[in-house]
Amino acid sequence: MTSSAPQKRLYIKTYGCQMNVYDSERMADVLRPLGYGVTDTPEGADLVVLNTCHIREKATEKVYSELGRIKRMKARRADAGGEMVVAVAGCVAQAEGAEIMARQPAVDLVVGPQAYHQLPELIARAHRKSGERLSADFAADEKFDALPAARATEGFTAFLTVQEGCDKFCTFCVVPYTRGAEYSRPATAIEDEARRLADQGVREVTLLGQNVNAYDGGDGQGLAGLVRRLAKVPGLDRIRYTTSHPADMDEALIAAHGEIEALMPYLHLPVQAGSDKVLKAMNRAHTADSYLRLIERIRAARPDIALSGDFIVGFPGERDADFEATLNLVREVGYASAFSFKYSRRPGTPAAAMTGQVADAVKEERLARLQALLEEQQSAFNQAQAGRVLPVLFERAGRKAGQVVGRSPYLQPVHMEGPADLIGQIAPVRIVSATRGSLAAEPAPQGSAPQRVAEAV
Ligand code: SAH
Ligand code: SF4
Ligand code: F3S
Repeated sequence: MTSSAPQKRLYIKTYGCQMNVYDSERMADVLRPLGYGVTDTPEGADLVVLNTCHIREKATEKVYSELGRIKRMKARRADAGGEMVVAVAGCVAQAEGAEIMARQPAVDLVVGPQAYHQLPELIARAHRKSGERLSADFAADEKFDALPAARATEGFTAFLTVQEGCDKFCTFCVVPYTRGAEYSRPATAIEDEARRLADQGVREVTLLGQNVNAYDGGDGQGLAGLVRRLAKVPGLDRIRYTTSHPADMDEALIAAHGEIEALMPYLHLPVQAGSDKVLKAMNRAHTADSYLRLIERIRAARPDIALSGDFIVGFPGERDADFEATLNLVREVGYASAFSFKYSRRPGTPAAAMTGQVADAVKEERLARLQALLEEQQSAFNQAQAGRVLPVLFERAGRKAGQVVGRSPYLQPVHMEGPADLIGQIAPVRIVSATRGSLAAEPAPQGSAPQRVAEAV
């Protein structure tokens, strides 16, 4: 009997942001024609890829400890007469590629985020044990041109990278160094990819970029134009995008939030801090006030929009009064969700060399206070949905039998007792209760139409 099952096992572990999630899927797409099928355990794999993140010190440390574990598995596999190729990809690969190879001999190859299309050649060199096994070129256009058109997607939601890199150079951040300069993919290529995803059953795409709203397809229409174009793709009912920079939030994109039904009312718009002194030292191109005015304009276009953000506490020079300004900004905005971090000193970034580094205990305390406030707001936002009818895209079966799980337009996880054939459908449901992390629903009474939240909390 002949079998079309893949003969080689590929294990990919993904760290970091959604762009890495997208890249991991695309690496699997590149390797599939070579006979690699994805497995969910590294033990016994023929190829192990760690797709890494460099954003904070902890993220980088995790990679080295995971490599220690992989090294032992590789030795076990060699003892059993097999071979395991170990690859490090992603932002740590870009930033410290040569160092990784020197520090951990179990690593066979290193591939930066713009070089995934070179994986087959790098793997061949690893097997031959000859030739350069580090590729960290910046050529985003080549990467996208060389990736296979076909994507193996499962499920009803997908990520779609439309923009890579960053020219903003916030003084704390490694991304401009690990992902290179801003690059936007041509709109036609993005639309083709979106159409194929829709043909495969995908109903929601999240457009990705380190600065996704800096998207420039060359036609002067920016991200708003791209969203309008994708909103016409049959079958694509929901469009989201992340991550945005306040400086690139143009009028057309704000207007799109009020006009395009498929564009979901959720916006991740990191502010980082509420003190103008700190924002300036961070090289953020906004002040607290300009950010607040921007939020007002966005809410005028789409009053029920759910806002999310990123925050850093303990940036060098941050005094108590500066931190209080962050808390005040949070109180004024009212976030539906948020990510907050202690400042992490990254080698090579301007902030790492700044005076006034803040003690860890102070960072801890500030983070705890900020998170308590953000959690309170998130709970309030979720509680405010109780009693409303919302359209939910059901994505999968829940952990409990007979349960289905999906997302509200505001990106809240929603769970409900319901038949499995709801999966893949957008159905109106009535929210019956809420916690900080999720909503519980029941089928909406016959004839009830989904409602918008009248006012954002
Ligand atoms: N391009 C996006 C996301 C970049 S990384 C943006 O500009 O928003 C995601 C988040 O990690 C950042 O928004 C920031 O809050 C956080 N971050 C980046 N560098 C950091 C550092 N050195 N220490 C702590 N948090 C950091
Ligand atoms: Fe980093 Fe700033 Fe660029 Fe975001 S905008 S990726 S925080 S440098
Ligand atoms: Fe991390 Fe690189 Fe993303 S540093 S957050 S994986 S762009």
